[in-house]
Amino acid sequence: MRKKIIAGNWKMNKTPSETVALINELKPLVANDEVDVVFCVPAISLTKAIETAEGSNISIGAENMYFEESGAYTGEIAPNMLTDIGVKYVIIGHSERREYFAETDETVNKKVLKAFEHGITPIICCGESLTQREQGITIDWIRQQIKIAFLNVTSKQAKTAVIAYEPIWAIGTGKVATSAQAQEVCHAIRDCIAEIYDEATAEAIRIQYGGSVSAESAPELFAQPDIDGGLVGGASLKPDFGRIVNYNK
Ligand code: PGA
Repeated sequence: MRKKIIAGNWKMNKTPSETVALINELKPLVANDEVDVVFCVPAISLTKAIETAEGSNISIGAENMYFEESGAYTGEIAPNMLTDIGVKYVIIGHSERREYFAETDETVNKKVLKAFEHGITPIICCGESLTQREQGITIDWIRQQIKIAFLNVTSKQAKTAVIAYEPIWAIGTGKVATSAQAQEVCHAIRDCIAEIYDEATAEAIRIQYGGSVSAESAPELFAQPDIDGGLVGGASLKPDFGRIVNYNK
C-alpha cells in the first residue's frame, strides 16, 4: 500500500520571516500520520523552514536545484547545499520552470539523476497544455516526458520517486481536472513506469495530481486508485492546506 504524499508548492511567495509564521500556523493543522507532508519553499527560506518544522511531521523541500556539483553557475543552488541543511525533497521540472526558465526534458533528467545521487527525493513534474489536450495527444506527451525524465534512473531509485501530474491548464486557474481525467493520466503514467521497469516499480512509485487542488476537490481526487496525493500551490499557503492533508478524516 502506497503512503499518500501531499506537498505544498509555495512558488515565489512568503519572505523568510513570513515562512516561520506560516509554518507555525499550519503545523498543528497538518498533523496526519497517514500522509507524508512536504512544504516546498523558496531557497532563501529553506533553513528557517527546517528549523521551524523541527519535531513536526513536516518535511521540507526545495523548488529547484542545479545538476552540477559546484562551480561558475551564478545564482544556482547545488545539491549538497540542500542536503547540508537537511532538505529531503526537490521539485524538478515544474511547468513554470519549463515555461519561464527554459527547462527541458533533458535538464529535468539531469536534475533527477543528480537528486538521486545525493539522496534527495525528486518530485518530477509533467503535464500537458490545453492545446495538447484538445489535440488528443495528452497521453503521448506525458509518456515522452516520463521516459526522458527517467533515462538512466535505476528501478531502485524510481521506486522512491514522486511524479506530479499537473495539467498546465489546471494550474492556478481554479479549473481542477475531473477525478476521471486525473486518474486516466496517472494510470497511464504508472503503465509507462511498468513498461520502462516492471510491475513492482510501478506499484511502488507515488504519483500526485496537481492543479487547483482545494479542500473540496481533494477527497475525490485522492480516492482514485492511481493518485497517491497532491502537489498543491495556492491552497498550500492557507489553513485550507490542513483540510487537504486531512482529506481522509
Ligand atoms: P495550484 O498550483 O494548486 O495553485 O494550481 C499547483 C502547482 O503549480 O504545483
